[in-house]
Amino acid sequence: MHASTQRIGFIGVGHLARCLISGFLKSGLPAERLLLSPRGQSKTISNETGIEVAASNAALVDACDIVFLAVRPANAADAVDGLPWRKDKFLVSACAGVPIAALAARAQAPRIIRVMPVTAAEIGASPTVCYPSAPRIEDLIAHLGPVIPLSGEQHFETATVSAAVYGWVQKLIQVSADWSSSQGLSPDTARQLSAGIFSAAGQTVAASDEPMEELLHHLATPGGITELGLNHLENHHVSEAWTGACQAVIERLSKN
Ligand SMILES: NC(=O)c1ccc[n+]([C@@H]2O[C@H](COP(=O)([O-])OP(=O)(O)OC[C@H]3O[C@@H](n4cnc5c(N)ncnc54)[C@H](OP(=O)(O)O)[C@@H]3O)[C@@H](O)[C@H]2O)c1
Repeated sequence: MHASTQRIGFIGVGHLARCLISGFLKSGLPAERLLLSPRGQSKTISNETGIEVAASNAALVDACDIVFLAVRPANAADAVDGLPWRKDKFLVSACAGVPIAALAARAQAPRIIRVMPVTAAEIGASPTVCYPSAPRIEDLIAHLGPVIPLSGEQHFETATVSAAVYGWVQKLIQVSADWSSSQGLSPDTARQLSAGIFSAAGQTVAASDEPMEELLHHLATPGGITELGLNHLENHHVSEAWTGACQAVIERLSKN
């Protein structure tokens, strides 16, 4: 079947799936190409969007060429078990820390691809890692933002930590905005400013080839305010704490 006519199903219609579905619809995929499993937020999303709800997970797998799996990690293996998978189908798992082998043990037939989108998929801005390479899935994921193919599953686990970093960055945006509004900026202005600054920092780094050390060196004028704050943060071991948080997440992911 041609890529543009493939039916795309969702098993696990919760918070993440809602963002993926919203991103796909905004990018121009017609609602008729999507199909929802009957649990979670399916009825609400169906009422909002007109996307059909399958009678069962088995009926969904039967009807779809590509099936996204977005259940909680602990439910992933059970959710794919006993369904009518075939060799020509793709099972695309967004379940953090669930290895391909754990899914393949319960769903032998389909090609299994792991992806790790973030909620920015809703606005077409999710950098999404993908493993193993599957051009048809990468083309589809590109509707949700930049696709980052990876060459090994261990790299995928490492990259999954960035999905948690995405939340920590939002915490920093909140802390900066709260401080600005405590000093008198309106909460809306403080929020937009803080979000815009973090976004601008990310875009600048992404657009530059300069080593990060150099970029930071140019920013931190000796005796200036950037240097002052960076020194304060380092005196409070912020880099060490951040790295420690990344390590804690990879250790949790490795336990699955
Ligand atoms: N949230 C994020 O931003 C994010 C980002 C990247 C990756 N992920 C990954 O995405 C997955 C889902 O996260 P979430 O935050 O979206 O969780 P969630 O809101 O709890 O959604 C999970 C959904 O799975 C459904 N479900 C469980 N077992 C099922 C089954 N056998 N058949 C059909 N549906 C089933 C649940 O339905 P019921 O309510 O009926 O039980 C629930 O609606 C996780 O594995 C997570 O690692 C999440």
